[in-house]
Amino acid sequence: MSNAVRKLTSKAKVPVRWRQEVARVLITDRMLAKRIAELGRKIEKDFAGRDMVVVSLLNGTVMFIGDLIRQLSHPLRLDFIGVSSYGKGTESGDLVFTKELRLDVKGRDVLLVDDILDTGRTLRRVLEKLCLLGPKSIRTCVLLDKPSRRIEKVTADYIGFTIPDQFVVGYGLDFAEKYRNLPFVGVLKPEMYSSPKPKPTAQAARKKK
Ligand code: IMP
Ligand code: MG
Repeated sequence: MSNAVRKLTSKAKVPVRWRQEVARVLITDRMLAKRIAELGRKIEKDFAGRDMVVVSLLNGTVMFIGDLIRQLSHPLRLDFIGVSSYGKGTESGDLVFTKELRLDVKGRDVLLVDDILDTGRTLRRVLEKLCLLGPKSIRTCVLLDKPSRRIEKVTADYIGFTIPDQFVVGYGLDFAEKYRNLPFVGVLKPEMYSSPKPKPTAQAARKKK
């Protein structure tokens, strides 16, 4: 699949209950549903007849993975890898695996799914780890891509939306473990990042999956 850049044109109003904290909606629930259905169709076609294992990274994919695999009608296996970063403000390079893969991926076709591809450190580390397990193939799928922040040479085969360098929350993505339950992807008001924590750069704010 080509890494098509998606134009983000949401003019949706922030729902009243989130208005104190969220500055704007970047991707609405309808945009998410539509794009995930498209991704599902492509993935289904590409993996037809294969021995598919979906490996999803916790915690950020909590919503995306449920919606994505419901679009896939052929048999598949699903497992999770837990990844998080050390402490506050730590770069995503310092990864800790909080849950290991249990399924055997040897000789199987893996779809590795993450919420967002940012510096690329997470995907690169996980890809290295998965490769050692001897899968037949690995493809990668991310809901969001921030190519402007890339440090590692890693790309995703399936991309939901390409976004600018902004820290986003919602639909599984968090800031300090909050906001995962927003049904849309949005941008927080600057004051949400302040006191007692310093306003994060997009980099410092990503601390946990
Ligand atoms: P990486 O920099 O590509 O390794 O991304 C590391 C992780 O940081 C991602 O899987 C997310 O969990 C998190 N992350 C990166 N950018 C954002 C963001 O804008 N919002 C929330 N989490 C993010
Ligand atoms: Mg994540």
